[in-house]
Amino acid sequence: MVPAAGMEDVVSLAKRRGFVFPSSEIYGGLASCWDYGPLGAELKRNVQGLWWRSMTRRGDVEGLDSSILMHPDVWRASGHAEGFNDSMADCRRCKGRFRADALPPGGACPGCGAEGSLTEPRDFNLMLATRLGPVDDPASAVFLRPETAQGIFVNFLNVQETMRRRLPFGIAQVGKAFRNEISPGNFTFRTREFEQMEMQYFTAPGDDREAMEEWRERRWRWHLDNGVAEGNLRLREHGPDELAHYAAAAVDIEYRFPHGWGEMEGVHRRTDFDLGRHQERSGKRLAYVDQLDGNRRFLPHVVETSVGLDRCVLALLCDALRTEGAGGGEGRTVLGLSPRVAPVKAAVLPLSRKDALTGLARRAFEDVRSRWRAEFDEAGSIGRRYRRQDEIGTPLCVTIDFDSLDDGAATVRDRDTMAQERVPLEGLVARLEERLGPGAAP
Ligand code: GAP
Repeated sequence: MVPAAGMEDVVSLAKRRGFVFPSSEIYGGLASCWDYGPLGAELKRNVQGLWWRSMTRRGDVEGLDSSILMHPDVWRASGHAEGFNDSMADCRRCKGRFRADALPPGGACPGCGAEGSLTEPRDFNLMLATRLGPVDDPASAVFLRPETAQGIFVNFLNVQETMRRRLPFGIAQVGKAFRNEISPGNFTFRTREFEQMEMQYFTAPGDDREAMEEWRERRWRWHLDNGVAEGNLRLREHGPDELAHYAAAAVDIEYRFPHGWGEMEGVHRRTDFDLGRHQERSGKRLAYVDQLDGNRRFLPHVVETSVGLDRCVLALLCDALRTEGAGGGEGRTVLGLSPRVAPVKAAVLPLSRKDALTGLARRAFEDVRSRWRAEFDEAGSIGRRYRRQDEIGTPLCVTIDFDSLDDGAATVRDRDTMAQERVPLEGLVARLEERLGPGAAP
C-alpha cells in the first residue's frame, strides 16, 4: 500500500486547493517555511483536536499551554545547550555547509565537487536564538524552544498540586517548536518552525516500562483511526547509539512518505532525567510526595509521546491523494481523507442557479453548516463542482435538483464510490451524521 501520489503531486494539490502555500510567496518565499491555507488550517485543526481530545478526555491527562520563550537555564538543564548539535563540515571553496553524517567517504565537497576543500566537522547547535527586551547584549539572549516538552517538565509540580493529581498522570500540550535544521526539505516534513503535540506521562520509577508499551500501542491506533493505511506505518526501535541524550529507550512510528520512511512520532522513556536536571539546576525540589506510601518522596519517571502535527498532516495528504481512471476516459483526482479529519464534511450544490432551487439549497446548507464546516457552490457545471469537492476531500455532496421542489429530497453523493442516494431534506443532517460517522470533528 505505497502512497499512490508523489511528493510533487501533493505539493501541487496543496497549493492549488488552498492547503499549503510557500511562506512570504510574493517576496520569493522563505526557505523551508510554509503557510497553511484555509483548508490546510482546517485539516490541521481537526488533527490537533483529535489528538487533544484523545489525551485530555482519558481522565488521567491534563492540558497545558506554556510559553515558547523560556529561561535560558531551562536549556542548560535539559542538555539542549550542549548536546543538541549536528556535526557539520564547511567547504572552503563554495562556502557550503554539510552534515558530516551525510558526507560521502573520500572527502569531495557534495556542493561544488572540490577535492580536499572540506574543513574538519564541528558541532553546530540547532537552537534558534533571539533576544528579549531592548538591549542587545549576551544577557538578553533567549532561545525559541526546540521541543515543547520542557514547558511540561518545569510545570510538573504546578499541575500536580493545582489539579491534586496522583501518579500516574500525564500532561499534554500542542505548540510551535523551532530548530535551525541544517538540511530542511521534503515539503513540510522537515522545517525550521513546526508544531509538536507532546505528552509526558509521569509514573512511579519502574512503572514506566509498562506505560511505554501501552502508550506505543495507543499512539499506533490513533494514527490508524485517523485513516492512515496500516501498510504505510511501521515501528522502529532506536539502537543504543542513536538514542537522544535524554532517552533510555525510544521507538518511532514511521510513515512511508514518497521520499522514504520517515519519523512521524517518537515514544520515549525519559526516566527522571529531565526532572532531575531541573531540580539540580533550579535548586527547587521537584519530588512527588506519595501520600499513599508514607509520604515517600521521589522523582517520577516519564514516558513521552511526541508527534509532529505538520508531519501528521503531510502523511494524511500523501496517504489520501489518488488519481483514478487516468489514461482512459475522464480521470479524477480524489483526496480520500477520513471524515474525521476532512476539512469540509459536506458540500451543498444546487443543480442550477434558478431562484427556487437556490432558496431550497440555501436552507439545506444552513442546516448542514450549523453542524459541520460545509461549502455552498453554485458556480459551473455539476461535474466540475464534484471534481473540486473530490480534490479537497469532501466526503459527501448534497445536490438539490428540480425533483427536490416536488419530493423535498436531495441526492447525497459519496466521494469514494460516487454512489448516490435520495434523502428527504428534513432528515438530511441526521443522515449525513450517520454517513460521516461519530468521529467527524465539527
Ligand atoms: N520532545 C521529544 C522530541 O522533540 P523529536 O523526535 O526530536 O523528539 C518529535 O521530535 C517529533 O517532532 C518528530 O517525530 C517529528 O514528527 C517532529 N519534528 C521534529 N523535527 C521536525 C522538523 N524539523 N520539522 C517538522 N517536524 C519535526
